[in-house]
Parts: sequence; C-alpha cells; structure tokens
Amino acid sequence: MTTYNALRQLPAAAEYKKDDVLVLCGELFGRGYANGIVDEARRAGMTIIGTTVGRRDADGTLRSLTTEELAEAEATLGGKIINIPLEAGFDMEPGAGDGRSVVEQLKGVKADEWDKVRFDWNDVEHTRQQGARRFSANLGLVVTELGKMLPAGANVLFVHTMAGGIPRARIFMPLLNRVFKGQGDRFLSSETFWNSDLGKLCKVSFDEVTADTFRYLIDATAPLRDKVSARYTAYGYHGCEVLINGAYTWQSYTPYLQGWAKIRLEEVAATAWAEGIKATVFNCPEILTNSSALFLGVENSLYPLLAALEKEGNGPFAEEIKASCRALSNDGTAIDTLIAKANDYLSAPITVALRDFAGWPQHNRPEQQDFMLNCSAELLAMNKNPKEIVCAVLSQEVFKAVGRLMYDFSWKQDAPVLWLNHDVIAKRLVTA
Ligand SMILES: NC(=O)c1ccc[n+]([C@@H]2O[C@H](COP(=O)([O-])OP(=O)(O)OC[C@H]3O[C@@H](n4cnc5c(N)ncnc54)[C@H](O)[C@@H]3O)[C@@H](O)[C@H]2O)c1
Repeated sequence: MTTYNALRQLPAAAEYKKDDVLVLCGELFGRGYANGIVDEARRAGMTIIGTTVGRRDADGTLRSLTTEELAEAEATLGGKIINIPLEAGFDMEPGAGDGRSVVEQLKGVKADEWDKVRFDWNDVEHTRQQGARRFSANLGLVVTELGKMLPAGANVLFVHTMAGGIPRARIFMPLLNRVFKGQGDRFLSSETFWNSDLGKLCKVSFDEVTADTFRYLIDATAPLRDKVSARYTAYGYHGCEVLINGAYTWQSYTPYLQGWAKIRLEEVAATAWAEGIKATVFNCPEILTNSSALFLGVENSLYPLLAALEKEGNGPFAEEIKASCRALSNDGTAIDTLIAKANDYLSAPITVALRDFAGWPQHNRPEQQDFMLNCSAELLAMNKNPKEIVCAVLSQEVFKAVGRLMYDFSWKQDAPVLWLNHDVIAKRLVTA
C-alpha cells in the first residue's frame, strides 16, 4: 500500500537552464494539467520537445500527424514534436481468433445487453501484448530521435501525462454516463459495471494506458540515461486534502474507476526509484480538463481552494483570483456562499461515509451519487454563464501551481510518490 506522503513546504527554485530539455509524453490540450510545467520550462528557456498519440484514419489505421496537424500542435506546445504515433492501448488491435478487435466484437451490442457480453480473455491478453509491442516499438523510434536531439550532459525532465483507455466502442459512453452521472432510474452501480466483462476490459485498458506507459517510458529511455541526467514525473490522483470545516482533510471523488491504474502508476515510480531512477508520481487535486469532464461532481472539491487561499495568507494574487471568481458568479453570490455550499457537501455524512484512504478507490452508491450531482448542479448554477465558470478559473490556477511545484521539486526529487494538496497549492499561489 502506498505511504501517504504530502508536500508541505514550497521546494527551492529549480535551476534548469537553457540547453536543458523538457520532454512531454502525451499531447497538450488547452486546459490540461501539463500546461503548468510546460509554462515553467518555457520561462526558464528550456527546450521543449513534444510527442503525439497520432490519429486514426476512418479505416482505423493509426498514423502520424499531417503537416497541418503537426504545425498546429507545435504552435500550441511551443516546441518541436516527434511525429511518431504514441497511442497506447489495444482496443483496435486485431484478435488472434477471427482477427476482430475488441471494438469490432462490441459492434451491435444493444444497450440493455451490456452485461451479457463475454470476452475470450486469452484473446484480450494477446491484443494487449500486441498493443504494448506497437507502443514500445514506436517509443523506441521516438527515443532514437531524442538521442539525436538531446545535448550531452543536459538535464532532461520527462513529463508523463498519459491517462485514459476507455475502449472506443459505442456501447461504453452511455454506460459510463450512467456510472458517473446517472441518478434515479439511470443510476448504474460502478461495482456492478466493474465486475462485468466490460468493466474488466476497462481495467486492463486503464492499467495499460494510465500506468504501464510510464514503465515503458522509463525502460525505453534507459540508453539516454548514460548521456543525460534524466528525471521522470507523472500525474497521479489518489484523493486530495482540501479545507473542510477549517481543517485540511483528505477526501476523494467517487467513483474513480481509474484509481486502481493510478495505484499501479505509483508502484511503477516506487519500483523505478528502488532501481536508482529519479521518478515521481505527483498526486494532484481535482480540476476540470478534457479528461475529467466525464466525472461530473469532481469539481465540488475545487471550491474550498478559495478558503485555502485565505488560510494561507491571502495577498494580491489571491485577491485577483477571488475577483475573477466573483465576476463569473451570479450577482449576489458571494465567495463565502460557494465555499459554504461545497463545505456542506464535503462534510455531509453521506459523503464522509465513503471516505476511506486504505480502501480507496470506493464505488458509488445511489444516494451518494445523487447528492454529489445535485450539489454540483447547484454550485454550477451559481455561475452567470454556464460556459464561463468559477471552476475553470480555479482549475487554471491549480495547474499553474502544480506545474511550478513539480518543476521545482523535480530538481532535487526525494520521493517516488507525493501528494500536492490544497495547502501547498494555496501557499504557492499566495507567494510571489
Ligand atoms: N483532471 C484532473 O482532475 C486530474 C487530477 C489528478 C491527476 N490528473 C492526471 O493528469 C494527467 C493529465 O490529464 P488532464 O486531466 O490534464 O487531461 P488531458 O486530457 O489534458 O490529458 C490527458 C493526456 O492523456 C493522453 N492520452 C489519452 N489517451 C491516450 C492513449 N490512448 N495513449 C496515449 N496517451 C493518451 C493525451 O494525449 C493527454 O496528454 C493524467 O495523468 C490525469 O490522470 C488529472
């Protein structure tokens, strides 16, 4: 089991300089976590090198980015992208039997027959290995390119941001919408889903994309470690401490079905660390990104950051953040109202009942999910415009602070797994 280890003090400033390199493993999206650390590297004048997951043609073929796609991605990143597709996972790999991938096998399955689906697990394992081989082979090509680009003796910061793995069969979205957003008749127990064959398939796929890619990255870049000083970082999630009734308290979004893969990711870092490799998984707070949009209610835990800013001393930056939030809130909605509503949710017995660090991640229950989603809706209704919301402002502040903390900590990494909670994030934000 993972030992709980939280960063409490701001780390000293990192000393990366020009000629040092940040390598981003995964793509950069507008509101994604990786923006924070990429911004720090850019500020320091580091070279930024990106990767791509590639794209799928209509016939399913995995390909590199086109010239236009590449130009757009490089402009977003502010650096060169090695254009070799690093899509992880196996959902479209041909099976050993009749050659059909799991996605093809799921074509035509009716919504009410999802629990009747059965897989041949030997075949799933065959496709998993095939997917892993394709990923590692392409990663090998990326590493060859990197070998030509990295200056000898440079400090190289590998940033792993990959997470996902929901198989791309049509059956999954309506089902997962019921698991994460279902209320009343539409509620679907995450445990029932997780124990079904479709759930088991998700587990194998999440492990592969979210966790094992970090190990593949560490292994594939072994030859580079003779030439450069390599550090590895990855983004984890394993609950987060936020201010509840005035005290920083560990809590989590439920049901976080990626949680088992995130524990596996922590284990990858711990194993690498034991081998003398500097690899750290940073367990980060709940924010709104492309990837977390499915987990409605995850943002309920973000509002207490406003209280944390006050607890950590306020100041001009905190006032700016609060002013931005006030401007987006309905007339008459005070910051204290947002904080109080979120606190009611986080301290309610129905929420607390599912809070168990040792048994994390927990499965949903109808009454807990109902309450979480109702609180989420009430809080979101406090925004003037549903497209410009307080949580977007807070998410951006969190990824900036997390980026700075990861960047600084990585200079003198001293642990394989670290929680970045609202206390240290608020400290980072109020400190110039
Ligand atoms: N959003 C949150 O609340 C939150 C909280 C804690 C940790 N994280 C972690 O932060 C990291 C970045 O996520 P984010 O929330 O910023 O969202 P994001 O959507 O911006 O990033 C997801 C990343 O995963 C990559 N990816 C997706 N499918 C892939 C596949 N099949 N193969 C290879 N790469 C794939 C994407 O290219 C992208 O780089 C993830 O590890 C995520 O789990 C997010």
